[in-house]
Amino acid sequence: MDAIDVIVTKRDGRELSREQIDWVIDAYTRGVVADEQMSSLAMAILLNGMNRREIAEWTQAMIRSGARMDWSALPGRTTDKHSTGGVGDKITLPLAPLVAACGGYVPQLSGRGLGHTGGTLDKLESIPGWRALLSNDEMLDVLRKAGAVICAAGDGLAPADKKLYALRDVTGTVEAIPLIASSIMSKKIAEGTGALVLDVKVGSGAFMKTVDRARELATTMVELGTDAGVNTVALLTAMDRPLGRAVGNALEVTESVEVLAGGGPEDVVELTVRLAREMLQAAGVSGKDPEEALKDGSAMDAWRRMITAQGGDPDALLPKAAETMEITAPSSGVLTGLDAYGVGLAAWRLGAGRERKEDPVSFGAGIMLHAKPGDMVRQGQPLMTLHADETSRFERALAALEGSYTIGASGDGGLLPLVIDR
Ligand code: URA
Repeated sequence: MDAIDVIVTKRDGRELSREQIDWVIDAYTRGVVADEQMSSLAMAILLNGMNRREIAEWTQAMIRSGARMDWSALPGRTTDKHSTGGVGDKITLPLAPLVAACGGYVPQLSGRGLGHTGGTLDKLESIPGWRALLSNDEMLDVLRKAGAVICAAGDGLAPADKKLYALRDVTGTVEAIPLIASSIMSKKIAEGTGALVLDVKVGSGAFMKTVDRARELATTMVELGTDAGVNTVALLTAMDRPLGRAVGNALEVTESVEVLAGGGPEDVVELTVRLAREMLQAAGVSGKDPEEALKDGSAMDAWRRMITAQGGDPDALLPKAAETMEITAPSSGVLTGLDAYGVGLAAWRLGAGRERKEDPVSFGAGIMLHAKPGDMVRQGQPLMTLHADETSRFERALAALEGSYTIGASGDGGLLPLVIDR
């Protein structure tokens, strides 16, 4: 077998055989298939698609490229959540300890932000001392102590995906549904969770801009999980406006702690509780109700244990940006639109995100929103505060926000419902 044979099969719109898939993933991981050959194959897949069998075999081959984690030593059931990413999406932070407080075990492997969407690890790293890199034994230890762990995936987990995702990122082949679905699910299946809830975001701030595309991705991932023996459920949720009021690393940690203390923005609380119930149900755990665990302090206790077990100080002051700038409402009326992509891009330009993988992020940078779509605003009232380490960043952030918010006579501009479908 050789790479050209595999590329030409897909280029000509034919099905890849199991042997071709196994061979090409293994040979690519070992460096026998070159990056330029794999990028050509990825483009052929993007243009010609893959059927369910091909996607399942591609996913299994990526899982086999590395190790599979095993949590059978834990005294309870594991359950996890994956979000396809969005602006202000800090849900993992309150969700993992909340589910732990209700009786589930959450072995959450998370990523860093690239582009306009934030990454869970960047957010948590704003907590002094907190460590994202843990060995498998350390993960097990944190799970035993806190019921939840959030950390980086080690090099041994689906290494084929690590290599392929970096390649897709620079060859215009990220957006292929078979490749996104197999990339996400290979990591989640290899992570060894027994149940999985997928939060597939829809709207300007998400990968999937339309409900139809999001539904196709969700269905594909649920099929992959189910076929691999992971009880998998997907929700389609709104990402046409930012989630919550905080966008940016330390700002989002503060908002997550507010949720764990029984407060926080309504949409963040609603989605956190909904996803917690789904995760517990998918795992067959019938413990405390998530709303109760937010009220009685047990979710906060689990958070403190989890942060402490990973070297962090849950009482430490979080980094603050040196400079702020307020944006005020240009007229009175109803805030009819607040575009997730514009806000995410502005936060990124303020320093909350990175341009290249190796760049550092500014922990204090980001945006606090003082009004959400549907709110009445008066001319001159603060709409949002920009936070950055240098004033020079404000100009490019303002350019990203141009046209991103609209004030009208009434309505919310036809926003998507927070939970669109299950
Ligand atoms: N996240 C992933 O892990 N993989 C993709 O392909 C897209 C998003």
